[in-house]
Parts: sequence; structure tokens; C-alpha cells
Amino acid sequence: MLSTLIYRSQLSDSVTPERVKALVEHSSIKNAAAEVTGILLFDGQHFFQVLEGTVDNVHAVFERICQDDRHFNLIELMRDYAPARRFGHAGMALFDLRDYEKHTVVDALLKRVTLNDERIRHDRVVKFLRSFVEGRDKETFIGIDPASHWTLTTPLTADVQPSWQPQPDQRCEFALQPIVDATNRQIVSCEALIRGLHGAPPADYFSQLPESERYQADLYSKTYAFQLARHLGLGELTLSVNLLPMSLVMIDDAVEHLIQQIRLQGLRPEQVVVEVTEDEIISRFDEFQFAVQQLKAAGISLALDDFGAGFAGLSLLADFQPDKVKIDRKLITDIHRSGPRQAIVLAILKCCQALEITVIAEGVEKIEEWLWLEGAGVRYYQGFLFARPALNALPAVSWPVRRPK
Ligand SMILES: Cc1cc2nc3c(=O)[nH]c(=O)nc-3n(C[C@H](O)[C@H](O)[C@H](O)COP(=O)(O)O)c2cc1C
Repeated sequence: MLSTLIYRSQLSDSVTPERVKALVEHSSIKNAAAEVTGILLFDGQHFFQVLEGTVDNVHAVFERICQDDRHFNLIELMRDYAPARRFGHAGMALFDLRDYEKHTVVDALLKRVTLNDERIRHDRVVKFLRSFVEGRDKETFIGIDPASHWTLTTPLTADVQPSWQPQPDQRCEFALQPIVDATNRQIVSCEALIRGLHGAPPADYFSQLPESERYQADLYSKTYAFQLARHLGLGELTLSVNLLPMSLVMIDDAVEHLIQQIRLQGLRPEQVVVEVTEDEIISRFDEFQFAVQQLKAAGISLALDDFGAGFAGLSLLADFQPDKVKIDRKLITDIHRSGPRQAIVLAILKCCQALEITVIAEGVEKIEEWLWLEGAGVRYYQGFLFARPALNALPAVSWPVRRPK
């Protein structure tokens, strides 16, 4: 099967124009041998390459290209399949934008397309090429520092709060994970993540419960999270707890119970955030809306968790606007290298900005992910990069710091 891959990248400072020419000649020979065709656009600073060939061969070439330190900020823009090659000539041609007058460059580029077909006008690959040549892609391009320019502060063990021993009758425990404002080096909130006894995975806890007790157990378990917050002296820090939306609907007086438990542990409803995922909301939206009104009336905030992972996505926001949206880790992982993820997250940010919804990026594990998200305007983060969840304790945070030059 014929596959197509497009990426863009930036030339490393140390690479001279002569070396680019040599690189193209060498690559062209290698591509011809692997029956990989395509084009490499270059504007003196940025590369934009189309690779076409069998899935395996394109993948192998791209793997090597990704490892190459002659360029950086490499972003994969598209992977697709096609009935025929757009660039049928063997090897790889270089198209240097600087060799053309601005108004002739698109036509000159289109002349290189060997596919003689009307459909080429609507072809995504050609649209991508035009966008690069016309500089339209710059609107969404966020260049980041190499990760090697950054390091992390080591958390001091002394920072870790004393852990708390669970009660003898407790059937589940909680691990706390901070949500941080990395620029201001502040923990703004922490999420209480449910665990089985001795930190066993949450599935172990839920699987031993009969289906009929699920919602009750979910709701009542939060008492332990509030107790933990009190014992650790979280003060004014916001505490996020996860709830199945139906726990608020199926259990009588669920919201009153929650508020009572919050107050009993010396917390204020205003410092509690209830996190729900979108899937259960959409199946019984009206009933859920009623519970939300009660929560909001009591001062509790709402966060939409794992946003982007479910079925509703942006359309849910048309009917229901939470205070916070937590972007799912699947959209965050390797975002610095993925054009599609970047486009989706930028759209979420734009939408949430217009609706004054706070955005939190979840599952941030790499410096590069954080750097890209910072560039895009995200302010709040949760993930292993900053702190792993700690059982019955609030862990200290590692902060990114720029290495001295
Ligand atoms: C912008 C850019 C584009 C490249 N394109 C190709 C390519 O199309 N085909 C290829 O084999 N190598 C390409 N390379 C070079 C590879 O990264 C890698 O250096 C080369 O494939 C290794 O060849 P070797 O195993 O013969 O040393 C490119 C490098 C850069 C920086």
C-alpha cells in the first residue's frame, strides 16, 4: 500500500547550506533504492518534507530522519494512504523557496507534482504544501527550546508532607497528585486519586464491589479523601475528587452528603472540585444537570475530566460549561511532535478561552510536552513530569529550570 507522510522541522544552527546540499544528494540515493519519492521544501530555516512509498519503507526513512540532529522541532503533520504518488520521480528533490519570486513559487511547486489528475486540487498533501509555501502554517507553529536546555529541580524529601495512616475500617485509600502553575512554581490544587488498600490499582477496589453498590461506594469513598486533606493540613489548597456523574443522580441526597462531609473535615465547598468524565453525562444529561445546579449552588466547582477521550468532546460544551476542562493525556502525549494533536489542543484552548473555562493539561511527562503547551498558552499542569501521585501524602514537585548557558 502506498503511504504518504508529511513533517516539518527547523534547521539546526550549526548546519551550513553546503551540508544541506550534501544531505539531499545522499538522501536522494537512499530514497531511490527504497522506492521512496517526495519533495523537500526549504526556506533557509525550515524544512517541509513529503515522503511517499510503502508503509514500511516510509516508516524506516522517517525513523532515521527523526534521529537526525541537523534539524529540530520536528512535527509530524500527516500520515495517509493514496492510490498514486504525487511526486513520481525517483529519490528526493529539493525545492528551495528562496530561488523563486513570491508570486511564482506556488505555480513552480505545482509543476513538480507528477500526478496529472483533477483531484490534485483538493488533495490534502497539496493543500499542506501550499500552506507552507504561503506561510499560513506559521499561525499555528510553536517553536520550542531543545529539551537539553532544561532540567528539573530535585524534590527535597523534606518537602514531602508526613503521610497519614488509613483508618482500620477503610476499604480504599487515596493518592494525591498536585496540579501546578509551572511558571509561578505554585501548587494550585491537588487531585485525590482512588486506590485499593495499600495503594492497589483502582480496578482492584471497584472489581470487588457488587454492581449495585458501585455508586454508593463511589460517593462515600470521598469522605476518606476529605479526611486525608484535613490530616495533611492542605489549608486553602483546592482538592479535586472524581465522581461518577450517576453517583450524584442515583444516590438520594448525594450532594447534601458531599457538602456535609466536606464541612465535617473543616474544608469549604469552594475549595472542592468535582471531576466527572463526559461519557456518563451524555447518557443522562438532564438528571445530571440537576445535580450540577445543587453542587454549584453550594459553591463546589465542576471539572470535565479526560476531555477529548470520550464521545462528546466539544459538542458537550455547547450544553454544559464546567469551570475547568482537563485535557486527556492521549492528546498531550508527544504533542510537541504531532500536528494533529496540536491542532486539536489549540482548538480546545481557543474554545475554553472564549468561554472562560480554565484548562489543565493532564499526563504531562516530558519537558518538550510542557514547553509546547506553555507556548500554546496552557497555564496549569498535572503529570509525572512534576510529581507522581503519592499514597496518603502530598508529594513534592519537580520544577523545570533552564540550564545556565
Ligand atoms: C531535513 C532532512 C531530511 C532528510 N530526508 C531524508 C530522506 O528523505 N531520506 C533519507 O534516507 N535520509 C534523509 N535524511 C537523512 C537522515 O536523517 C539520515 O541521516 C540518513 O538517512 C542516514 O543515512 P546513512 O545511514 O547512509 O548514514 C534527512 C535529514 C534531514 C535533516
